[in-house]
Amino acid sequence: MKNDSIIILAIESSCDDTAAAIIKDGKILANIVATQQIHEKYGGVVPELASRAHQQNIVPVVNEALSLAQVELQEITAIAYTQGPGLLGSLLVGSSFAKGLALALNKPLVNVHHMQAHILAHFIESESSIPQFPFLCLTVSGGHTQIVLLNDYFDFEILGETLDDAAGEAFDKSAKLLGLPYPGGPLIDKYAQHGNPHKYKFPKPQIANYDYSFSGLKTAILNFINREVQMQPDFVEKNIEDICASIQFTIINILLNKLEKAILQYQVKHIGLAGGVAANSELRKQVNLLGKKHNCKVYIPPFEYCTDNAAMIGMVGYLKFVRGKIGSQAQAATARMDFDLYHK
Ligand code: KG4
Ligand code: ZN
Repeated sequence: MKNDSIIILAIESSCDDTAAAIIKDGKILANIVATQQIHEKYGGVVPELASRAHQQNIVPVVNEALSLAQVELQEITAIAYTQGPGLLGSLLVGSSFAKGLALALNKPLVNVHHMQAHILAHFIESESSIPQFPFLCLTVSGGHTQIVLLNDYFDFEILGETLDDAAGEAFDKSAKLLGLPYPGGPLIDKYAQHGNPHKYKFPKPQIANYDYSFSGLKTAILNFINREVQMQPDFVEKNIEDICASIQFTIINILLNKLEKAILQYQVKHIGLAGGVAANSELRKQVNLLGKKHNCKVYIPPFEYCTDNAAMIGMVGYLKFVRGKIGSQAQAATARMDFDLYHK
């Protein structure tokens, strides 16, 4: 390895994925994720089980990343880790590990905001081109839903966010009401592919500006299913494809109406999707159509950079490190972390 290279070891443990990545001069050399299966049988992430699994996974995951990248611990320039937001017990495992290793190796630490990492995952070098500023990003995951306008890497404005459930939660909770296992988002996507999206109508929230709300949809679906099942006990099984297509259509419609409004108001020509829900096939299709309609270039990172991963943490770690934005041992893992205040 050349001595003047910047090599970042990145660690992500904010929810139920234990992840480590090695990034050299902005290029990903290794991106390892251990997804915790234990939560499936509980129908959602169990925080205590998540932190326990992180403790079991963190050392093997970091070792695997180092060995895949063929990098020795001593060659690392800095250690980047997710400071927040997320589950506190989960964040504590990754942040304590990062801090301990930084102390032992006498290396600088870079604290990273998880939501910023989802957005800046678009700037990881891959076969496709990277966005130009101003860049409008819709981040949709199991924990968050946000529309953010970026004028530069660290100059951004949150235009709107969810007031209650995240888009991924809307998918997962709807799936649960249909008796589907966790996480139900990918299953709704699968069933919806053969269903009629206009068969059933669900109400759309009337929320001002760019904010979102999905909790009303969940209640509407619950009432709808209870009503139909009373008349026809096997209603859900018989109509699963149309129900999933209609739910998915409603969620995507809610998401993209606001994105379209922002495209028009801010006159942006580069738009992107981030977060785990960006894997949704219909959302990808619709956002591409929206881009065509408004002559915008659409960016969706490869799937491994959309769901929770450490490559995106490493990317922010690298961008911060080269700008001298170094963290300290005194910074604590934070479950709720103000995105705006964080970088100002
Ligand atoms: O970003 P992510 O991996 O973790 C969080 O930070 O939350 O996102 C996970 C979320 C889950 O809610 C999951 O159901 C949803 O992304 N998801 C999908 C699809 N694939 C993952 N939702 C709809 N359609 C999909 N194909
Ligand atoms: Zn995430």
